[in-house]
Amino acid sequence: MQSFTHVRVYLACHYNTDSMPHLFDSLKVRDVEFSNRIVVSPMCQYSCQNGFASDWHLVHLGSRAVGRAAAVIAEATAVTPDGRISPADLGIWTDAHIEPLRRVFAFVAEQGAIPGIQLAHAGRKASTDAPWKGGKPLSPAEGCWSPIFAPSALAFS
Ligand SMILES: Cc1cc2nc3c(=O)[nH]c(=O)nc-3n(C[C@H](O)[C@H](O)[C@H](O)COP(=O)(O)O)c2cc1C
Repeated sequence: MQSFTHVRVYLACHYNTDSMPHLFDSLKVRDVEFSNRIVVSPMCQYSCQNGFASDWHLVHLGSRAVGRAAAVIAEATAVTPDGRISPADLGIWTDAHIEPLRRVFAFVAEQGAIPGIQLAHAGRKASTDAPWKGGKPLSPAEGCWSPIFAPSALAFS
């Protein structure tokens, strides 16, 4: 709490805070109008089978939109199956992945939020386990895959 007070005092002394935008002020970026300054950042859920969005994603992302975040960005979404972090990652490597994602984003948009997606390739971090299972490279018994395409040959540890 003390550091927040310091920040407030610093701002009050150095800036005219009356002219600063507020959290619930709208924001226009090119043609996109955000109703406030709250953006839900992408958060891996490790809750997919074969990369497909499910009711989990509808509720997880949809409830943030219902809560009035201005924008809701879907988690890292693999553009190739070998580019997933874990076997339970969200993906968009076939046309069949589109409809379940469309359903989620349509609901988010119906609530007045801007839907977004983080297109991703895991690089060195591909073929690893979910964080709550240790996040380590998968063994063959756990369904690891290779080769792993990454900018570095150093294995993820
Ligand atoms: C559960 C969880 C999952 C996350 N998954 C992703 C992800 O898919 N992609 C990403 O770029 N960052 C991911 N992050 C990082 C967040 O998007 C965010 O950048 C990070 O939490 C820092 O923001 P903060 O300082 O507001 O907490 C994740 C964070 C959490 C807590």
